Amino acid sequence: MRDRTFFMIKPDGVQKGLVGDVLQRVEQKGFKIVAMKMLSISNEMAQEHYNEHIGKPFFDDLVGFITSGPVVAMVVEGENAVEGIRTMMGKTDPKASAPGTIRGDFGIHLSRNVVHGSDSPSSAEREISIFFPPEELMEYTRIDEMWLYPQ
Ligand code: RTP
Ligand code: MG
Repeated sequence: MRDRTFFMIKPDGVQKGLVGDVLQRVEQKGFKIVAMKMLSISNEMAQEHYNEHIGKPFFDDLVGFITSGPVVAMVVEGENAVEGIRTMMGKTDPKASAPGTIRGDFGIHLSRNVVHGSDSPSSAEREISIFFPPEELMEYTRIDEMWLYPQ
C-alpha cells in the first residue's frame, strides 16, 4: 500500500550538515518527497507535535531541543512509507540503532537522534496537518516510477 508519512531532519541533523545525505537516502530508496521546507519550530508547534509525550520527564528537554534551531520538514510518499521510513531511521536510541540506518550511522545520544518520522498512519496524518497546508503537498510522477513499481 502506498502511503504518506511526515519526516523531519532535527536541529542536530541540520547543524551537522546531514541534510543532503539524509535526503539522498530517501530519494535513492525510491520514496517521493511531496512537500519540504526549512523552518524554526515554535514552542506551541512543538507542544502540539509531541503532545503524546506531555508530562513525561524528558518532555521539556525534547521541546527545548526541537525548537533550538532550524529543521527540514517533509512529506514522503511511497510503498509502505510510514514503516519504511521508520526502518531507515533505526531505533529511537542511536546507540541501539543498526549501522546502515540514519540514527545508527549519524547519532550517538538518545536525545539527539537526527531525524523524526511518524510512527503510524494516523500520526502521519496529524503531523502532516501541523506542518503543511494541503496546497503545499505536490502531486507529480517521478520519472523512474515505472522502474520502482511493477506496472
Ligand atoms: P521521534 O518521535 O522523535 O521520531 O522519535 P521516536 O518515535 O523514535 O521516539 P519517541 O518515543 O516518540 O520519543 C520522542 C523523542 O523523545 C526523546 N526521548 N527521550 N527516555 C528518554 O529520555 C527519552 N525517550 C525518548 C528521543 O529523542 C525521541 O526521539
Ligand atoms: Mg515518536
